Amino acid sequence: MSKDILATYDELVSAVQEARYRYYVLSDPVLSDQEFDALFRQLEQLEKENPSLLRPDSPTQQVGPPPGGAFLPYRHLTPMQSLDNVFDRGELGDFFVRVAQKVGDRQVVYVCEPKIDGVAVNLIYRNSVLEKAVTRGDGTTGEEVTLQARTVVDIPKRLNPEADADLLEIRGEIYFPLAEFRQMNEERIAGGEAAFMNPRNAASGALRQKDPRMTAKRPLRFLAHSLGGVYSIDAGANIVPSGKTMFSRHSDFLEWADKEGFSVPKPTKKVTGLDEAWGAVEHFTAERHRFPYEIDGVVLKADELSLHGQLGSTARAPRWAIAYKIPALEKETKLLQIEVNVGRTGKVTPYAVLEPVVVAGVTISRATLHNEDQIHLKDIREGDLVIIRRAGDVIPEVVKAIADHRPEGLPVWNMSEKCPFCQEPLVKPSDEVNYYCENIDCPNRVVESLIHFCSKGAMDIDTLGEKTTVVLHDMGILNNIADIFKLSEHVGTLEELDGWGAKKIENLLQAIETSKQKPLDRLLVALNIRHVGSVVAKELTLHFPTLDAIRSATVESLCVIPGVGEKIADSLTAWFANQNNASLLEELVKLGLRTDVGADPGSAEGGKPLAGKTFVITGAFFGMTRDGIKEKLESMGAKTAGSVSKNTTALLVGADPGSKLEKALALGVEIIREDALDALLSAK
Ligand code: IVH
Repeated sequence: MSKDILATYDELVSAVQEARYRYYVLSDPVLSDQEFDALFRQLEQLEKENPSLLRPDSPTQQVGPPPGGAFLPYRHLTPMQSLDNVFDRGELGDFFVRVAQKVGDRQVVYVCEPKIDGVAVNLIYRNSVLEKAVTRGDGTTGEEVTLQARTVVDIPKRLNPEADADLLEIRGEIYFPLAEFRQMNEERIAGGEAAFMNPRNAASGALRQKDPRMTAKRPLRFLAHSLGGVYSIDAGANIVPSGKTMFSRHSDFLEWADKEGFSVPKPTKKVTGLDEAWGAVEHFTAERHRFPYEIDGVVLKADELSLHGQLGSTARAPRWAIAYKIPALEKETKLLQIEVNVGRTGKVTPYAVLEPVVVAGVTISRATLHNEDQIHLKDIREGDLVIIRRAGDVIPEVVKAIADHRPEGLPVWNMSEKCPFCQEPLVKPSDEVNYYCENIDCPNRVVESLIHFCSKGAMDIDTLGEKTTVVLHDMGILNNIADIFKLSEHVGTLEELDGWGAKKIENLLQAIETSKQKPLDRLLVALNIRHVGSVVAKELTLHFPTLDAIRSATVESLCVIPGVGEKIADSLTAWFANQNNASLLEELVKLGLRTDVGADPGSAEGGKPLAGKTFVITGAFFGMTRDGIKEKLESMGAKTAGSVSKNTTALLVGADPGSKLEKALALGVEIIREDALDALLSAK
């Protein structure tokens, strides 16, 4: 064997070991998931081609790094294994072939489940009482995090005694729910604190708090996905495998766990054969953003537990299961430059111009950096290698610089003193992390306000998109909001634009005309009044159903409205008192915009089937987004609310509901499950 191969092998082993240590123990990864997978596969390939190289400490023979030492070590009764990965249909097919070689031509049923990107935990129940919670560690020895895990709401402290085992191991993932993760990061970013890199890191950080009261402050959750071992305690107090088979199928285990009060992966799908399995993998992948937690793959497990024994395991993973890895949400690329954007409120947001990179199927060349504080906290510099993350429809962000790879002498980035669009000085209020351009005529602010006015949640003039708005602004025919309603005077100019024919212009003018009839709450949102979003606007119009009424409302009378505090009331009265705004409103009225509530879908008029009812929605619904359900309910006259109270008519419960379900049960609020949703939404 050549010295080169040996050296490459040693290097690969060290690189994977280091990456695992940084990921699992320090919660501070140096590689994106995809790069780690690629490195790991390189190592596997080298070992396959040169079996004599194989070192017992190779990461391919282990599940994770040894524990970091901050918590008490615990040796697992049943080792905690990992899963082998496949990345495409061909590799999944190879898995099917491997199984068939062992079990012959008997048909194997697989359960497909989401693969939760969380922290693997082993829960030990002694005589049905939770005794210990242990991290996976290197698969043989983990760390005890019992007190921390006890703060997780969906880890039952006690099971039904008929579990009929002296000692039971339940395995699953502790995770940070996505909605809460995003909210927490938004708050951290707004408060000048470092944002967490991803939900897995946040979960790991929270679980590894020495003081469990700190863990309790985080909304951690648990999903049970497998049974570890079932043990008896013999007369000599020895723990021995019980030899009992509690279940004959994995799906029975999931059903049992669900009844015992665990949350379990949902939905699951039983499949046979490669075609069906690949169909399920594609379905889960397409729906990945619907889960209330981050999923990084799809797990297929042979349902018959007798097959598990027959198929056995390798040193690190079972042969009866496989994980399809969904393309990663995080990728490494080079940050070429930091530029800033000025939004409709004047807020200045720095963003990274990147060497383009494909993340989860989309080419990304820009990513937000949030604000100057985040750039300093993460020590991100122009020229750095960075990890970017694109999750769902959230704006891609730079989560981390890989400082180990930093070329020497890269300067620290600081916000410029002047607005790059209008050259006016930028201002940073003392209680804020953001800089602002205070010039209301700043060309970028104007364009952003116009784009916002036409956006879906505002006046919804979809034929006037971002690009057209910029072009028309640059041509000098769209200088303010009122100009939108005067575009009919510029048909000649529009006709000269590339790709603009008579039909397209007619559609544009028609959409603008129709928008004049939008209810008042939409107009209020569109006008870009600070702190006035759709919820506040709806409440406002319930109390003051005309523009005149809102315009003449005092701070005191506004503060009576639920959800409207002094900050919002001040912002509203100041906006209406401004002379430019008053002139704009006068012009809009003259141009024929509706200034009363009209057909506001939130104003629960009689005659609609759900008028007078208030619904709260929790969990994930297949085939429908929560926003879609909300819109439909509102169009039927119902109100929707963010939290359960005694005034809630019913709670709509999807898969993996949050704490709202517990509250609704405690208050005796009606529960409507996903299977009854269709009936509710088709009520006449
Ligand atoms: S079954 C013998 N099911 O992914 C291993 N694991 O990358 C049985 N994971 O070690 C694991 N979601 O910690 C299983 N639905 C799921 C899972 C899941 C996430 C974790 C688990 C495993 C790791 C492998």
